[in-house]
This record gives sequence, structure tokens and C-alpha cells, in this order.
Amino acid sequence: MSKPHTLVALVTGGSRGIGRGISLELARRGMYVAINYTSSKDHAERVASEIINQGGRSIAVRADISRSDEVDAMVNIVERELGTIGVLVNNAGTGDLDYKGVPYVTEDTWDRIHAVNLKGTFLCCRSVIPSMLEEQWGRIINISSTAGITGGTSGAHYAASKGGVITFTKALAKELASSGITVNSVAPGKIDTDLFRASTPEEDIPGVMKKIPVGRLGKPEDIASAVAFFTLPSSEFITGQVLVVSGGY
Ligand SMILES: NC(=O)c1ccc[n+]([C@@H]2O[C@H](COP(=O)([O-])OP(=O)(O)OC[C@H]3O[C@@H](n4cnc5c(N)ncnc54)[C@H](OP(=O)(O)O)[C@@H]3O)[C@@H](O)[C@H]2O)c1
Repeated sequence: MSKPHTLVALVTGGSRGIGRGISLELARRGMYVAINYTSSKDHAERVASEIINQGGRSIAVRADISRSDEVDAMVNIVERELGTIGVLVNNAGTGDLDYKGVPYVTEDTWDRIHAVNLKGTFLCCRSVIPSMLEEQWGRIINISSTAGITGGTSGAHYAASKGGVITFTKALAKELASSGITVNSVAPGKIDTDLFRASTPEEDIPGVMKKIPVGRLGKPEDIASAVAFFTLPSSEFITGQVLVVSGGY
């Protein structure tokens, strides 16, 4: 089944890093793109301007994705300004730069990581799915992490939240499969962004790169093209899958 009119995409955490790369790529493919952010208004507006300057349509929209009232308000704004959301990319995520082991993790830190990474993904899906059901068409792509598969190196709480994103993706895919809505996940490895730089001391980077068979860190564009793949009309038979984009890491 194909969707006739211009697709509207909402990219959470589209202001920086991987989300910025995804936003630019979806716009390049002709979609109207809503750039969500929580604090970096300037960055988000810059991404939207970049898209508009290249002849596309885009808005920046603030919402803390861990808050249901803000998520619902954001979805209303996007649908009013750009149209019904056909593509939802749950990319916004956070980590713990002070991780020293499970015995030292506070409940607040555990809750914050799960509230953004896992609950935020749920809240955005919950808010967008009703109109996808009405259209009988939708593409949901959840950004997880290799940590959600292997345990990773960024902390057990982060890995658990990303493992949750993967199983949520699989369960939701089954639930929506007969409604023309696919749900898939892209699991990045080590991607050169603010989050990666903040959690990896400069002197550790050569050691990290040695573990990546392709021999370099990933770029936001590497993740963006994997996300775009799931939005293609020819990808309509692919759902509930996790595409690892890690240079073999
Ligand atoms: N970089 C990697 O190596 C790597 C590896 C595996 C998975 N990932 C995942 O990929 C995704 C993007 O990571 P990144 O490296 O691009 O991170 P980043 O550079 O730190 O960017 C994070 C983005 O998420 C937004 N964000 C954070 N908390 C939010 C909230 N509560 N509500 C709305 N937006 C929020 C930020 O908005 P503001 O600009 O307003 O702060 C920003 O746009 C995350 O889910 C991350 O876990 C990254």
C-alpha cells in the first residue's frame, strides 16, 4: 500500500547528532520534517532553517518527550502546522556520564534514563498511532543501541532502557502489522556525536576505533540512511526488525 501525499515526519531529538542527520535525510527525500528538541532551541531552529533554505518544509517544536502533556501538545502542533504524521522517528535519548557501576546508580538516574529512552518512545507512539490507524499507514522507527543487544559499555541502566526499546518495537510491530503500520528499530554502534564525545575521553577513542572492523566511527548519516530505508514503499513487508549499524562493532 502506498501513501499518496507528501509524508510528514516527526524526529524526536532532531536538533543535534543522529537526529539532526535523520531530519536532513528525510527532508532530502521530500518529507516535511518536524524537529523536536527539549533545550537546544537554536540548534533545532538551525536544522529547520537548513531544510527550508533547501526548498523543504520544516518546523522546530519543543517538548520533553518524557512528559505526556508535552508530547500530546507537540503532536497537535505538528499535525496542525505540517499535516498528519506518517513517519515517527523516536531518536531522542540520554545517558549517564557519571556511571560507576550499578551499586552507585541512584533511583533518580535510573528513572530519568528510562523516562526519556523508553517511556518517551512509548508516549510518542501512543500519541501518533491513532492518526496512523485512521490512515491505515505509518512508519515508526525507534533508535535503540547495540548496548540494548550486547549490554554495551554505557551502563546497565542505559542498556536496559535500550533493550526495552527493542522488545517494545517487536511487540508493537505485531500489534500494528495488520493496519499498514510498520515498526522497526535501528541500533547504532559508536557514532560521533555530542553524546559519544561526552561519554568517551579523547584518549580512549583510538581504542574504541580498533574494535570497529570497518575502521572508523559512525556518522549520523550512516544511521540516517538506515532509518530512511524503513520508510521506503518497498520496505512495507519489513516490520519488528532491528538493523544494527555499527561498522561491524
Ligand atoms: N552516539 C552514539 O554513539 C549512540 C550509540 C547508540 C545509540 N545512540 C542513540 O541515538 C540517539 C541519539 O543520540 P546522539 O548521540 O545523537 O545524542 P545527542 O547528540 O546527545 O543528541 C540527543 C538529542 O536528544 C534530545 N533529547 C534528549 N532528551 C530529550 C527529551 N527529554 N525530550 C526531547 N528531546 C530530548 C536532545 O535535545 P536537545 O538538543 O534539546 O538537548 C538532542 O536533540 C539516542 O537515543 C542515543 O541513545 C547513540
